[in-house]
Amino acid sequence: MKNRILTGIQSSGVPHLGNILGAMMPAIELSKKENNEAFLFIADLHSLTTIKNAEVRKHNTNSVAAAWLAFGLDTDKNVFYRQSRVPQVTELTWFLSCYVPFPMLANAHSFKDKSDKLSDVNAGLFTYPVLMAADILLYSANQVPVGKDQLQHLEITRDIASSFNNKYGETFIVPEPLISTDVMIVPGTDGQKMSKSYNNFIDIFLPDKELEKQVKLIVTDATPLEAPKNPYTCNVFKIYSLLATADMTNEMRIKYLAGNYGYGHAKKELFELICDKFKNERIAFTNFMKDEALLEKKLSEGEEKAMEVANDFLNNMRVKLGFK
Ligand code: ADP
Ligand code: TRP
Repeated sequence: MKNRILTGIQSSGVPHLGNILGAMMPAIELSKKENNEAFLFIADLHSLTTIKNAEVRKHNTNSVAAAWLAFGLDTDKNVFYRQSRVPQVTELTWFLSCYVPFPMLANAHSFKDKSDKLSDVNAGLFTYPVLMAADILLYSANQVPVGKDQLQHLEITRDIASSFNNKYGETFIVPEPLISTDVMIVPGTDGQKMSKSYNNFIDIFLPDKELEKQVKLIVTDATPLEAPKNPYTCNVFKIYSLLATADMTNEMRIKYLAGNYGYGHAKKELFELICDKFKNERIAFTNFMKDEALLEKKLSEGEEKAMEVANDFLNNMRVKLGFK
């Protein structure tokens, strides 16, 4: 049996540097290992909790797909699909909802955060973790690579799976979270976690000029050019060090400490590094975005494979619960 890796990215915007370093690159690395098989999907149903415009969702779905492909996802070896195209996941969500204690959802940090920040606090936001549990359990995933912010959702999934297994016998694989420890949380331009919802992200797929503008928006303190600077409290340095080699990072650290090196210089180096490091991916992304037919073909092939696995699994559940 292969080790099954599964992860999803919501189609709520173009994937940013945080999504790429925190989720996409680690998942693609894992998908390449001989003994692994990856289920990588676009969580378009989850995006409906915040995005209501159909055209925006379609565009975002294409950009998430193009980003996975630009970063080298092998769609023959792995299963690549849109969550909504395998509607069995919504049936499993309902089954699971009827076993999830209300306080487990009411206490979720991400629901509390979102309900404080958003004006539209809908029931979908509340049951979001149950759909996420269904995403994972439907495909019997062993390992789920995610950023640290998703850890609690994984804990909810594990609780749901174990308590169901206790009642009904082995039904679900209890999945392990995989948190990439060298990345953890990528800071945004304002120093908070980089996120689509905080509008503090760096979109590496933008044309040069616009990308440079985003890099220039990174907030720094008012230390004058001549003065030595603390690299460890600076967002530009933090982001740079996530992308650069150890030697390059050390060189920048020495320049910060020496003085006569301004934040503008550091931002220019960061911008150049992003362009250089992601040169091929930026070109590939633009090409995939122009070829909607190719995106559609790759996704529908994956959806066929996903559907087969989902149907087999749900048939078993339907019998267990007396629906069949
Ligand atoms: P966003 O917060 O921008 O809406 P998502 O919730 O769609 O991002 O996250 C998709 C994946 O990317 C998840 O696995 C999440 O943990 C990861 N991720 C998102 N933002 C970051 C970040 N700033 N640093 C590391 N990983 C992140
Ligand atoms: N909730 C995840 C996020 O916002 C996206 C997601 C949905 C996901 N279903 C998943 C991630 C299943 C991993 C596994 O980042």
